[in-house]
Amino acid sequence: MRILYLGDIVGEKTISILEKHLEEIKKEHHIHMVLCNAENVTKGRGLSYPHYKALKSLGIAGMSMGNHTFSKSEIKEYIEEATIARPANLGTDIGKSFLYIKYNQETIALVNMMGRVYVNSPLDCPFKTMERLLSEIQADKIIVDFHGEATSEKKAFFYEFAGRVDAILGTHTHVKTDDSEVYQNTCYISDLGMCGPKHSVLGSDVDGIIERFKTGVYEPAKVASDSEFILSGVILDLGKMNTIEDFKKTIKAPLF
Ligand SMILES: [Fe+2]
Ligand SMILES: [Fe+2]
Repeated sequence: MRILYLGDIVGEKTISILEKHLEEIKKEHHIHMVLCNAENVTKGRGLSYPHYKALKSLGIAGMSMGNHTFSKSEIKEYIEEATIARPANLGTDIGKSFLYIKYNQETIALVNMMGRVYVNSPLDCPFKTMERLLSEIQADKIIVDFHGEATSEKKAFFYEFAGRVDAILGTHTHVKTDDSEVYQNTCYISDLGMCGPKHSVLGSDVDGIIERFKTGVYEPAKVASDSEFILSGVILDLGKMNTIEDFKKTIKAPLF
């Protein structure tokens, strides 16, 4: 089963890019299923219901989130029925701590976990939470989106769960790392990178972020408007022997 997993999708214009290009990408890479991190879709923070529906109509089978899961409070109204895995180590019962996705005869469990290093959220231990989930999950394949800042924490989580899950894919930094590998049949990358405007600071407008760093005076970050978009992620081939390939594509689009 070939799965395209896209890193954090930033801004609603990126949905338009995916509407135009996702089908051809799927054909070119023989993709059976698309998954993504959707925590930054709506104005860079959170996921509104219309944008969730737009991603669903593109055929995206499952979405993971992160520290912006509840940035748009309307998500509380639809998350129970949605194909969304929210961070499992958040101290809430709202939403699913893992998501089952059916493909042919197989069941995939999608887990979203948050790291605690340099992250200002009240979170349970990701290691203990994952141990607990492994005793509950009944699936043929398990994919974990580890949403965190520190590569050390992601790597440690990888070695702790290598051989026990099929993929551990880092998200949150929006910068793609060059360390994809398979160890004990577990696919790993420290960060998938993002899908969004290329000339930006992690998807946000450059000038506003420079001003923030120089003066400490700032407005809420805006999604950058750039005519070049990057789509970043990985292609997982999950079978008896799992494989991971890097995926990155730059697309020039007309100015919106
Ligand atoms: Fe993000
Ligand atoms: Fe994040």
